[in-house]
Amino acid sequence: MSKVTVVGAGNVGATCANVLAFKEIADEVVMLDVKEGVSEGKALDMIQTATLLGFDSKIVGCTNDYAQTANSDVVVITSGIPRKPGMTREELIGVNAGIVKTVADNILKYSPNAIIVVVSNPMDTMTYLALKATGLPKNKVIGMGGALDSSRFKCYLSKALDVNPTEVEGMVIGGHGDTTMIPLTRFANYKGRAVADLLSKEALDKVVADTMVGGATLTGLLGTSAWYAPGAAAAYLVESIIHNQKKIIPCCAFLEGEYGQEDICIGVPCLIGKNGIEAVVDYKLNAEEAALFEKSAAAVRKTNSVLKEINVL
Ligand code: LAC
Repeated sequence: MSKVTVVGAGNVGATCANVLAFKEIADEVVMLDVKEGVSEGKALDMIQTATLLGFDSKIVGCTNDYAQTANSDVVVITSGIPRKPGMTREELIGVNAGIVKTVADNILKYSPNAIIVVVSNPMDTMTYLALKATGLPKNKVIGMGGALDSSRFKCYLSKALDVNPTEVEGMVIGGHGDTTMIPLTRFANYKGRAVADLLSKEALDKVVADTMVGGATLTGLLGTSAWYAPGAAAAYLVESIIHNQKKIIPCCAFLEGEYGQEDICIGVPCLIGKNGIEAVVDYKLNAEEAALFEKSAAAVRKTNSVLKEINVL
């Protein structure tokens, strides 16, 4: 029996829960929210799709009742406020840090063995906070940003190449921020052929630029942050954990010397299996990529320093 809890039943949380149930990734999916009735209502609505879509995962909704989340294998934290058009993810820290810390503490009371997947923004800093506040081992706290940013990178690459998106490979590492993420064009390929050989420099530069502001573009269109791809990216990560798929997924991990960094959670390629982050995979960055990574880490560190200023760490 596998059980996954999604905390926060807003757009991202509910989408994640829906994918988890629809794809039968978990036997039981619990949604928890602070707003009375929202999780219960969304759970009931989703259950009513079971006979239409053909799945039998159990879905439970509850209002702030952490007892219902007991013995979860994985807990996805999506709680907090999303950004509005024109806002950066970093501007959300003051509100979201307190929420994420409280949620992480409550989760562990009922699911001490859970692996935590952090979605709330600013995601790299919220992952660092969840790790430090809970004292969990580093393999058990994972931020989902790289999975999302890589899916956007592959999407834009497939559009530029005009090919089937599932046949494109690409990874985005670094921070989950408009100026901190690093689409690794050197490793991106279409069926083994380097994208740099298939696209002009201008076209590839545009893919990189579009990827980096992928979330902001959607915030501008939607008036709030995106949810289908963020929710699916979190579910994709959960699937590799629950089914021990050992996929290499770029995600936000605590580093102790890997990629030249320590005491930071930031996006790097990770082997994801039943123990969470089973390894950080070294892609041997060249000098240019390493310089971008260092700059990205410095920006994430600056946001992390706010945690002390506002006394949550
Ligand atoms: C995004 C938000 C969820 O990138 O960070 O859409």
